[in-house]
Amino acid sequence: MTPYLLLPLFLSALLSLATSQDAAFWNNQAQRTLEEALNLRQNQGIAKNVIFFLGDGMDITTTTAARILRGQMDGETGEEGSLAWDDFPHVALSKTYNTDQQVADSAGTATAFLCGVKAKAGTLGIDDGAERGSCASVAGTEVDSVLVEANRAGKATGLISTARVTHATPAAAYAHSAERDWENNDRVPDEEADEGCIDIARQLVEENNFINLILGGGRVNFLPNTTLDPEYGDENTTGYRTDGLNLIEQWLSVKGSSAQYVWNKTALDRVDLSSTEYLLGLFEPSHMKYEVDRLNDTAGEPSIAEMTELAINMLSSDEDGFFLMVESGRIDHGHHMGVAHKALTDTIAFHEAVAKAIEMTDSDDTLILVTADHGHAFAIGGYASRGNPIFGYDDRNNGSDDKPYLTLSYANGPGGIALADSYINTGARPNHYTSDYDSEGFVQDATVPAISETHGGADVAIYAHGPWSHLFHGTHEQNYIPHVVRYAACYSDSEDNACTRATEEPPMCTGSAHPTVLARCASVILPLISLIFLWISM
Ligand SMILES: *[C@@H]1O[C@H](CO)[C@@H](O)[C@H](O)[C@H]1NC(C)=O
Ligand SMILES: *[C@@H]1O[C@H](CO)[C@@H](O)[C@H](O)[C@H]1NC(C)=O
Ligand SMILES: *[C@@H]1O[C@H](CO)[C@@H](O)[C@H](O)[C@H]1NC(C)=O
Ligand SMILES: *[C@@H]1O[C@H](CO)[C@@H](O)[C@H](O)[C@H]1NC(C)=O
Ligand SMILES: *[C@@H]1O[C@H](CO)[C@@H](O)[C@H](O)[C@H]1NC(C)=O
Repeated sequence: MTPYLLLPLFLSALLSLATSQDAAFWNNQAQRTLEEALNLRQNQGIAKNVIFFLGDGMDITTTTAARILRGQMDGETGEEGSLAWDDFPHVALSKTYNTDQQVADSAGTATAFLCGVKAKAGTLGIDDGAERGSCASVAGTEVDSVLVEANRAGKATGLISTARVTHATPAAAYAHSAERDWENNDRVPDEEADEGCIDIARQLVEENNFINLILGGGRVNFLPNTTLDPEYGDENTTGYRTDGLNLIEQWLSVKGSSAQYVWNKTALDRVDLSSTEYLLGLFEPSHMKYEVDRLNDTAGEPSIAEMTELAINMLSSDEDGFFLMVESGRIDHGHHMGVAHKALTDTIAFHEAVAKAIEMTDSDDTLILVTADHGHAFAIGGYASRGNPIFGYDDRNNGSDDKPYLTLSYANGPGGIALADSYINTGARPNHYTSDYDSEGFVQDATVPAISETHGGADVAIYAHGPWSHLFHGTHEQNYIPHVVRYAACYSDSEDNACTRATEEPPMCTGSAHPTVLARCASVILPLISLIFLWISM
């Protein structure tokens, strides 16, 4: 394009930016938000359905950066945009530490937000009385998750993860294990197996086969080491089990004719939901692909939004309602690699899954939670101008070495190794003007060299939508979350016996000034007043 054509374009862009951000713009925007807040009513219905979305490692920094990226992919400046959960009416903070660790791991935190008690790092579905790695210490410490309680309450249940379905977060929904790594029998040390502990995949198939829908990765933990993987099947890709068990066949034979197993998207799309009561989908030997790599998968994988849609379609045929957990498991892995691109694009895919759930359900009877287990050592820094590319460098400032730096960085991780190498080889850090910072595999700078970037210890957010979401209202211990789920959904195990309130009339003319309360009061008071008038006039 010739320069004289560019100039008006540039000016009109500048003009629209200038006029759209004057006092009237921001006052109108804030007034609309105020109006929404004033119209907010407390939803005190019963959560017939619960959808529990968990972004592994999805801290507030990650959601801000992903929100900006999403807007910029649509040609906008990005900062003003919103992800699905940004529109939820209630938000609180979650303190994530484990009982023995300042910065948490995913197993102890999953025990907190699914089973309701904080626990030691690395342990699943057992309380702080147990020792990590000690099978003998487990007896008597087991705690059940809200998924198990939902099943007891007669609900349909489902579990989705883009990680292995035996990985820490989904495993806390059904397993009790002194060690998160015991995903298949080969990982359980002989002396622990002798104490009677069985691996996580076997616990899923043998002790929790009530779960109606299980979709994710992790075939290796279900197949014997003599069975070739169906997708990559050569002699180097077999199952990991050394006990000869084929847990997929075992699951199919127990569940019978209403059960289906699939391992690719084509087969998933062909499943007849009307005749399928149980569905197991394992789409990769290990974790499912990152969203950016998904379309290149050999046999085809569903997106997290597609899995969520299918799950809601299948589970909502149960008239008692359902409990569904959906984990975006690889936001965390992208961060561990120091690759913000993978973490952020998986966060956007997760947003699409949440948006799909909002679209398909009714906030009157469906509680939707979006939260994270823990944060990461991830930062958005500098003073870049509005709309500056989120993967790019600060366009207004250099470091004190007069070299540009990127907006996104980590406190530790693989980027620190590259940085240390650069100092060793050149005596200086790389100049990011020439870096390939937009590429899918680009590793952000990090201060401390480390093979894997670490989790972060800051609070994470809880976004809530639907019945009793207002019970998320401040800074909570993470293990509070399932207590609200139990209360909102009336699971029978609830200590506060929430279900009794289902038959109670709400307080007559007290509480919130919601129109229906006023209407109810009016319907009582008005006839009363007219009776009194009638009596006086007689
Ligand atoms: C399996 O691995 C071995 C050793 O790395 C290699 O020589 C062989 O070509 C591999 N087989 C296939 C089918 O990839
Ligand atoms: C499978 O596991 C068994 C038991 O540990 C072992 O003896 C065998 O060599 C393994 N087979 C393969 C193909 O790795
Ligand atoms: C995926 O496939 C497309 C085209 O088929 C190719 O351009 C792209 O590089 C591939 N991406 C990866 C991560 O392999
Ligand atoms: C998907 O799985 C089905 C059932 O095992 C199989 O027949 C089909 O070939 C697979 N599709 C692809 C693309 O691998
Ligand atoms: C940053 O340093 C580069 C030279 O490395 C220079 O060209 C550029 O103008 C500087 N930018 C700012 C914002 O100071």
